[in-house]
Amino acid sequence: MRSNYCGELNETFVGQQVELCGWVHRRRDHGGVIFLDVRDREGLAQVVFDPDTVEAFALAETVRNEFVVKVTGLVRPRPEGTSNSGLGTGAIEVLGKQLEILNAAATPPFQLDEHASVGEDIRLRYRYVDLRRPEMAERLRFRSKVTNTVRNFFDDNGFIDVETPLLTKATPEGARDYLVPSRTHPSRFFALPQSPQLFKQILMAAGMDRYYQIAKCFRDEDLRADRQPEFTQIDVETSFMDEEQIMTTMEGMISGVFKKHLGVELGEFPRMPFSEAMNRYGSDKPDLRIDLELVDIAELMKDVDFKVFSGPANDADSRVVALRVPGGAEISRKSIDEYTKYVSIYGARGLAWVKVNDRAAGLEGLQSPILKFMPDVVVEALLAKLGAETGDIIFFGADKAKVVNEAIGALRIKVAEDLGLVKDCWAPLWVVDFPMFETNSEGNLTSLHHPFTAPACSVSELKNSPATALSRAYDMVLNGTELGGGSIRINKPEMQQSVFEVLGIGEEEAQEKFGFLLDALSYGCPPHGGIAFGLDRLIMLMTGATSIRDVIAFPKTQSAACPLTEAPGEVSTKQLRELNIRLREQPKPEADA
Ligand code: AMO
Ligand code: AMP
Repeated sequence: MRSNYCGELNETFVGQQVELCGWVHRRRDHGGVIFLDVRDREGLAQVVFDPDTVEAFALAETVRNEFVVKVTGLVRPRPEGTSNSGLGTGAIEVLGKQLEILNAAATPPFQLDEHASVGEDIRLRYRYVDLRRPEMAERLRFRSKVTNTVRNFFDDNGFIDVETPLLTKATPEGARDYLVPSRTHPSRFFALPQSPQLFKQILMAAGMDRYYQIAKCFRDEDLRADRQPEFTQIDVETSFMDEEQIMTTMEGMISGVFKKHLGVELGEFPRMPFSEAMNRYGSDKPDLRIDLELVDIAELMKDVDFKVFSGPANDADSRVVALRVPGGAEISRKSIDEYTKYVSIYGARGLAWVKVNDRAAGLEGLQSPILKFMPDVVVEALLAKLGAETGDIIFFGADKAKVVNEAIGALRIKVAEDLGLVKDCWAPLWVVDFPMFETNSEGNLTSLHHPFTAPACSVSELKNSPATALSRAYDMVLNGTELGGGSIRINKPEMQQSVFEVLGIGEEEAQEKFGFLLDALSYGCPPHGGIAFGLDRLIMLMTGATSIRDVIAFPKTQSAACPLTEAPGEVSTKQLRELNIRLREQPKPEADA
């Protein structure tokens, strides 16, 4: 139907007849001539119809935005002074000879260049219009190129692409499962996989040696900008490789992608123990583009009169930290109040601060609501420890370690963004030496990664001191986003059973849920380990998108629905009966008083 893409045309085509197919981006009537900007996947071309071509001209008068047209015409240079350097095809135009309307279009719900003013719901409902925007199309195309590079990398390195089932049993990755009722087994349910974790381990037991898959995963969890209920992993598993080899191989994969598609050298990825990440940044996914750090000051605060500090300073589960922010003395009282509100989201009960207006003036040069509670020597020691300088503000957090880490860790990022202290660079790292377990709000131990992660200790050490056991897990972090996580796995049944025990999963439950895994481990399972990367997050970071929804063709909304198809939808009584499901009566909406 067409000879060329619109966006392909340039001066080298001058004098040629072309046939273009695409959408009418805009129509302008200009003193007797009609301009149509015709758009396709590759770009825009300006087509001019003049009244001499009677038929085409008359038809051009009737087209509206987003009509699908076919144009036959002659490429010519734009007249002197009218070329548009902002457009790839800006030096030429097409003199239209014939016009065919392939399809009309209703008035679009929004003009492509006015997408910013419509809500995301509208963009998602009319996703086919939204995806016509070059920015969106470009991201999908970029994604396709990256997955191609990823596949080539794994192929070149001896990995085999194996598909694993979507109708399966629950795999615990810490979220709720999406369930699918079984018709043939009444009252039973499949779970959609939260990841291919157990299947990839079983592929190692099967001797596959190196596996990868670009796999869909499903997790019913609270959504955020970097989380979707249905998302894609670059999923990997290997046998007979230790954590160093796996990390090095995966660094090679990610570095290759950045080099090829962004021309960026990521360099060597530093390794940071989990404990160090928490202490210095309050986070297990530190954004190393920001130099600000949390500094422990509990030692200095043990004996001060200010109970807010001395209390936590004398409690083993608590932290007292200072965050020195160069240039922060400029921050207004109003902004400090806003930051105080911000940290309260994370449970902080206040946000003490000191402004260093003039370091040379000693205590006179400071401004703060809390210094009056501290001896001068403590204040001096504090400033010396932090290396305080004129122009700084110092923020403080004192509470349970979890609250301080979350609150001041988040404040570190927020203040850095507000003051322009985030460096323009790529800052990857590996976080290693994670604890095996963490304590949940009910006081029980839960896996920090998943229950199949190998501990860095023996069975007896694990049983004696589970709370302090470290795991052989590693996370890849890039610019404060967890890009991927993996580990060496447990490959022996005794160790797997011990971990289940620590997690309070009894023998019977372990058999019922994971009997097939325990069996596989007992029939000759090699040492193995792997990792999974969030493909959507990778593409989000690489394209500079602010949400993973912008790099997924058909994402779900914040409430896990699809405005385009209106899924999830109701089903017929017949279907429900076949599935042996009876719906509970929905609570009636409250009657107006
Ligand atoms: P994990 O749960 O850490 O590990 O997931 C791996 C990576 O997947 C991405 N990710 C998500 N992306 C978008 N939306 C979500 N809801 C979402 N959840 C996770 C993240 C994360 O780093 N089976 C293990 C991997 C392994 O041990 O090999 C697993 O799934 O980028
Ligand atoms: P107060 O004596 O409670 O008025 O607190 C004095 C200062 O300490 C105020 O600036 C509070 O915001 C701050 N503050 C209170 N609790 C904490 C806390 N847990 N961590 C850090 N600062 C706090």
